Amino acid sequence: MQQATILVVDDEQLIRWALLERLRAAGHHVLEAETGADALDRVREGVDLVLLDYKLPDTDGVTVLRRIKEVDPDILVILLTAYATVETAVEAMKIGAYHFANKPFNLDDVAATVANALETTRLRREVRCLRASQAQPFEFDRIVGTSLQMVALKQLLRKVAASPASTVLLTGESGTGKDLAAKILHYNSSRSQRPFMNITCSAIPESLLESELFGHERGAFTDARQQKRGLLESADGGTVFLDEIGEMVPGLQAKLLRFLEDKTFKRVGGQHDIRVDVRVIGATNRNLEGRVKEGVFREDLYYRLNVLPIQLPPLRAHLEDLPGMVDFYVDQFNREFRKSVRGVTPAAMRGLHDYGWPGNVREVRNAVERAMLLTESQWLDPKDFPVLAAHAHAVLGIALPSEGVRLDELERSLVVQALERSGGNKTRAATLLGLNRDQIRYRVEKFGLVKAAH
Ligand SMILES: Nc1ncnc2c1ncn2[C@@H]1O[C@H](COP(=O)(O)OP(=O)(O)OP(=O)(O)O)[C@@H](O)[C@H]1O
Ligand SMILES: [Mg+2]
Repeated sequence: MQQATILVVDDEQLIRWALLERLRAAGHHVLEAETGADALDRVREGVDLVLLDYKLPDTDGVTVLRRIKEVDPDILVILLTAYATVETAVEAMKIGAYHFANKPFNLDDVAATVANALETTRLRREVRCLRASQAQPFEFDRIVGTSLQMVALKQLLRKVAASPASTVLLTGESGTGKDLAAKILHYNSSRSQRPFMNITCSAIPESLLESELFGHERGAFTDARQQKRGLLESADGGTVFLDEIGEMVPGLQAKLLRFLEDKTFKRVGGQHDIRVDVRVIGATNRNLEGRVKEGVFREDLYYRLNVLPIQLPPLRAHLEDLPGMVDFYVDQFNREFRKSVRGVTPAAMRGLHDYGWPGNVREVRNAVERAMLLTESQWLDPKDFPVLAAHAHAVLGIALPSEGVRLDELERSLVVQALERSGGNKTRAATLLGLNRDQIRYRVEKFGLVKAAH
């Protein structure tokens, strides 16, 4: 059992003495006080638990209890009284008394209550520590990037996190950081001490998803042997993250919409409305508007969710952040793998820069992780990134036909195709061909394509 500092407050010396002996025997450090004023002085010196008599010479227990809670709401208070009325007991519990014991009491019972109370605080502190340590990785600075897009994104996340907005929609391709953004929003909001609950709508069959989200009553369906609280209830005061919300089936969409609109829902098989306060963050890498047009996503739900849309840009739209991201993961994996890789060579960085990153930041992390696991040198070079070799191969993989080719015709054909695909935009056509603006302009003129392009 853990050792704690306990204050015994009673004007009867005999009672103080009995409690003191018993609790000291259990290994605690025990202090005593005769009056309410005396008790508050000792409390300010720092105690874990107070055994407080209701009837004191200068004041009453409930007043002292209230003061103690003002000093430190974590201090446990057990009230002892011979004059308990239901009203005082209820009032004391409301103010935050841990327990109410009747006098005369059994010393063993009091000792057991003290032990339980201390265990409760220990657990409570542990949970709080754990939450704090979990929250740490989700500071805004966890988002790597100094590009305009990333700076704007961080600003928007900051605003939304601090706002009372109850619904947020995160959109963006796979690997752009929607999960990360959702956690950052939660852990930097006033809800951070309450739960963050997360569910992937596409990963769970429809019927199960409904009861996971909304809970169910006993007997609501064959397997429902017991009443169960859903995620929304468990997350009360906190955040529910609905990942891949675009995949949610229409029946549930209606129920979710109702919840978003009036904050109430019924458990599956339930009769009465349950009201909770949660922020719902939806995420999707699908084009939700397209899903609405296809008729698989409710338009009204889309508009309800889209009140606060946050779009995460694909990595290719802010490539200037790539070097910073590579460094971030080199640092991270140096620590994890106990290596001392210093970075990537200029040739590798050029290759990484030109690669399209369809898997966005997640793919960068995976590529760097793999390179760092296998490398034996201090600098990562192109051969440490097989993804670049595969990419280069796709480009070089046009095999020379046995009858040969006319190289300038092939070049002309590729330039024409690139211009067609980019709608005549020379800059975009140049990117498709790995050329700069001057190089494409030269070829457009050389092949007499001026009219086609603008
Ligand atoms: N801007 C960023 N800075 C640092 N790390 C990032 C950034 N964006 C994403 N990441 C990291 O990339 C990985 C993938 O991000 P995340 O899981 O949030 O993507 P997602 O958008 O939820 O993808 P999916 O649609 O596939 O679920 C995570 O390890 C995340 O921490
Ligand atoms: Mg995700």
